[in-house]
Amino acid sequence: MAVLVTGGAGYIGSHVVRLLNERGDDVLVVDDFSTGIAARVDGLSVVDLDLAAPDATDRLVDAIREHGVDSIIHFAAKKQVGESVEEPVMYYRQNIGALTNILAAVEATGIESLVFSSSAATYGMPDVEMVGEDLDCRPINPYGQTKLIGEWMIDNQITASQMRGTAFNAVKLRYFNVAGAGWSELADTAVMNLIPIVLGRMKDGKAPIIFGDDYDTPDGTCIRDYVHVKDLAEAHIAALDYMKSGGTTETVFNVGTGTGASVKEVIDTIAEVTGRDIVPEMGERRAGDPPALVADVSRISALLSWKAEFGLEEIVRSAVEAAGMLPEQK
Ligand SMILES: NC(=O)c1ccc[n+]([C@@H]2O[C@H](COP(=O)([O-])OP(=O)(O)OC[C@H]3O[C@@H](n4cnc5c(N)ncnc54)[C@H](O)[C@@H]3O)[C@@H](O)[C@H]2O)c1
Repeated sequence: MAVLVTGGAGYIGSHVVRLLNERGDDVLVVDDFSTGIAARVDGLSVVDLDLAAPDATDRLVDAIREHGVDSIIHFAAKKQVGESVEEPVMYYRQNIGALTNILAAVEATGIESLVFSSSAATYGMPDVEMVGEDLDCRPINPYGQTKLIGEWMIDNQITASQMRGTAFNAVKLRYFNVAGAGWSELADTAVMNLIPIVLGRMKDGKAPIIFGDDYDTPDGTCIRDYVHVKDLAEAHIAALDYMKSGGTTETVFNVGTGTGASVKEVIDTIAEVTGRDIVPEMGERRAGDPPALVADVSRISALLSWKAEFGLEEIVRSAVEAAGMLPEQK
């Protein structure tokens, strides 16, 4: 039996594909390469398909039957918050449209397990620092909303399947701040998150900008929970195993380390690992940035027996190495 990985040519998806291959699972990648990179899935079975296209359900059904797929991990999505504010319809069409087509294919083929890439963006601006899964979700942008709607769609499908007496189970993983590289060639090439942005600016000889240093946090800068992409990839394997062993108690899990790091701490760690002095510029606060957002990871630890192995230093080191910026790589 095979695992179908949508968005398998992307940053996170390609890490999961690599782990699945390492443990001997058959993998089928579905990707439209809109942001994915073909070299990440070189030599693997790949269907080049826009999951939001009108013929996507039919093509998925054919691919599932042809490759003996019995579970799906769904990464493929647009993920830029700013872009989602400017082009909400594109985000509904892509993120919600693609998931609709996948659920239709699941229904047509009787697939029993699905893992969905959700996000801490579903929480919005919570007024607590440590975020548990039962907190009210109030996403503040169309990107986060498409993730929450995706969770609801999956829940509705689970209910419908129980009513029909068929077995469909799903796990929704809410990722916190994903960073680092498990393998340098699979590193994040998009310059949208803190560590790639700082490294990119250093390469261009520019200082990083800190957006707000007057938050109510110990050093005044925002605190986030950074999780190594390889740890995150392992959480998907744990989710598949949980469903295969009949686990259904909970379907939504935070994926983080349970420990926060401030923007200043991240920049200091980059300075330490690269062996370079970094003097950041101070900028204004950005709208929609909560002071601190850290995952409560007790549920995933209890039910999926998953715990992050890597800390901030290892995350930063792997990203710096992938960028060729370790002192010994000069
Ligand atoms: N990177 C993060 O920090 C982060 C945090 C929270 C959640 N997520 C979620 O994780 C998932 C993967 O993110 P990533 O960082 O690997 O992004 P990515 O852009 O590197 O990967 C997305 C992949 O999906 C493919 N894709 C996009 N739309 C498609 C479509 N309509 N049909 C077929 N393929 C399509 C892209 O070509 C790409 O290979 C996304 O769902 C994202 O929302 C990411």
